[in-house]
Amino acid sequence: MRTTMTLPALRKRVAALAITAAAALVLAACGGGGEAGGGGGGSAPADGGEKITLGFSQVGAESGWRTANTKSVQDSAAAAGIELKFSDAQQKQENQIKAIRSFIQQRVNVIAFSPVVESGWDTVLMEAKRANIPVILTDRAVDSPDTSLYKTFLGSDFIEEGKKAGEWLLKNVDASAGPVNIVELQGTTGSAPAIDRQQGFADVIAQNPNYKVIASQTGDFTRSGGKQVMEAFLKANPDIDVLYAHNDDMGLGAIEAIEAAGKVPGQDIKIITVDAVKDGMQALADGKINFIVECNPLLGPQLMELVKKVVAGEEVPARVVTQETTFDTAAAKAALPDRQY
Ligand code: AHR
Repeated sequence: MRTTMTLPALRKRVAALAITAAAALVLAACGGGGEAGGGGGGSAPADGGEKITLGFSQVGAESGWRTANTKSVQDSAAAAGIELKFSDAQQKQENQIKAIRSFIQQRVNVIAFSPVVESGWDTVLMEAKRANIPVILTDRAVDSPDTSLYKTFLGSDFIEEGKKAGEWLLKNVDASAGPVNIVELQGTTGSAPAIDRQQGFADVIAQNPNYKVIASQTGDFTRSGGKQVMEAFLKANPDIDVLYAHNDDMGLGAIEAIEAAGKVPGQDIKIITVDAVKDGMQALADGKINFIVECNPLLGPQLMELVKKVVAGEEVPARVVTQETTFDTAAAKAALPDRQY
């Protein structure tokens, strides 16, 4: 059946067709429509000897761990002959989103990033996927249920780290005679390590109701944050037995506050931290910290291997978990002379 169109309807149809054609051209120019991943995306195919370009969005420079992680990524990229476009987000999600969009515009071959918080990534990751640029998560996870938005996640098991902290507490601080009062310095609110380290620790200490977390607050993974929050904890709670800090830096800041309050860190207040960077290990060797759960920042070499595989279109595991250990005072003394970071 033939239909006739009025002039305004015809104009509308022509305009709609023009928009569709323009959108198709943009998608074609981006190499879009395909799966993020296989073959490496980006402007250069990175085969036939062409240099791979990696866009890396770092969380910031909040801790000794982060400094060591940045150096590891930069050194490993140079050693692997990978061109690194590095961006520091200064602990702000909006800066990371901007950086990822800029990497998409620059047509890098692979994007890697350590998400400052877990939520809110779907839109920008979908943009990378549409541009056919594979994404690798390093260090921290996102909470998106759509795992096709990234190729792999390389980093620690933060829940396990929290559990190790709780297990040490159960074995080493006696709760049979009465309650053990714990204060907790959390990492950045909404970040994977803060959520998981809190969860892992809580799950283990729940075995005995005498272990009580009497205060828990974020110190944003920084030394100054740890000091400030610990000062407030000490003012509000005269009977603190244990401090659990989600990283060494906050623990070190808290030690300053504890000493300023006339107490002896490691004795009056037992201290458990996570990371095992040099300054933390020194405090452990000196008896100011009692136990450290290691979180390995040296992710660079493994990241570059994954980048090369992804660009070559090879399969990579969906999850690569970092190998880690724990340290007491004796182990810290033994490890310190060779500690790289
Ligand atoms: O995501 C890893 C955590 O981030 C480290 O434990 C902490 O020190 C850092 O800031």
